[in-house]
Amino acid sequence: MPSSRKAYKVMSDLVDKTGTGPIIDLGSGWGNFVIPIAKSNRQRQVIGYEMSTLPWLISTLLKQILGLSNLTLHRENFYHASLPAASVIVCYLYPQAMIKIQAKLLLEQPKIDFLISNNFALPALQPDAVIMLDDFYKSPVYLYKIADPGTIQYSAKY
Ligand SMILES: C[S@@+](CC[C@H](N)C(=O)[O-])C[C@H]1O[C@@H](n2cnc3c(N)ncnc32)[C@H](O)[C@@H]1O
Repeated sequence: MPSSRKAYKVMSDLVDKTGTGPIIDLGSGWGNFVIPIAKSNRQRQVIGYEMSTLPWLISTLLKQILGLSNLTLHRENFYHASLPAASVIVCYLYPQAMIKIQAKLLLEQPKIDFLISNNFALPALQPDAVIMLDDFYKSPVYLYKIADPGTIQYSAKY
C-alpha cells in the first residue's frame, strides 16, 4: 500500500528540511514516494530499494519515461544492502521491519542524518517530531535525527 497524498505532503516537507544529500526510500514500491520526490528535487540523489519485481519494474519504467537521472532504483532486499551515506531515510513498512532497520542503523553504522517513518516508530529511539496526519486514522509520521549511532542507547532488549 503506497503512502497517502497527505502522508506524502508531510514527508516531503520534512525531507526538505534535511539538507541537500541523498534520500533513501526503504521499500520504494510502485514509486509513489521516490518518483515525485526525485521530480521535485532534481539536485538531490534519490535511491529506492524494492524487492518485489512488478512494482520495481513499473517504477523503473516511470523513472525512464520521466528522465529522472537523479533516481536509482535497486531491486534488492534492503536488509542485505550496504546503505550509502545519506541525509535521510524514508520508509513506510511495518513494526517488525522497524526493529530490523533500527538494528541495521546501530550495528552497521551507515552515516544517516535523519529517518522519517510513515506510521511506524523505531522501537528504542525517541522521535524528534511526531506529526499526526489529518486523515481518518490520524496516523503519525515520525521524524528522527539519527545521532552518532555509537551514542544511541537501547532502552529495551529486542
Ligand atoms: C507500504 S509500501 C511503501 C511504498 C512507498 N515507500 C510509499 O511510501 O508509497 C512498502 C514496500 O516495501 C517493500 N519491502 C518490504 N520489505 C522490503 C525489503 N526487506 N526490501 C525491499 N523492499 C521491501 C514492499 O515490497 C512494498 O512494496
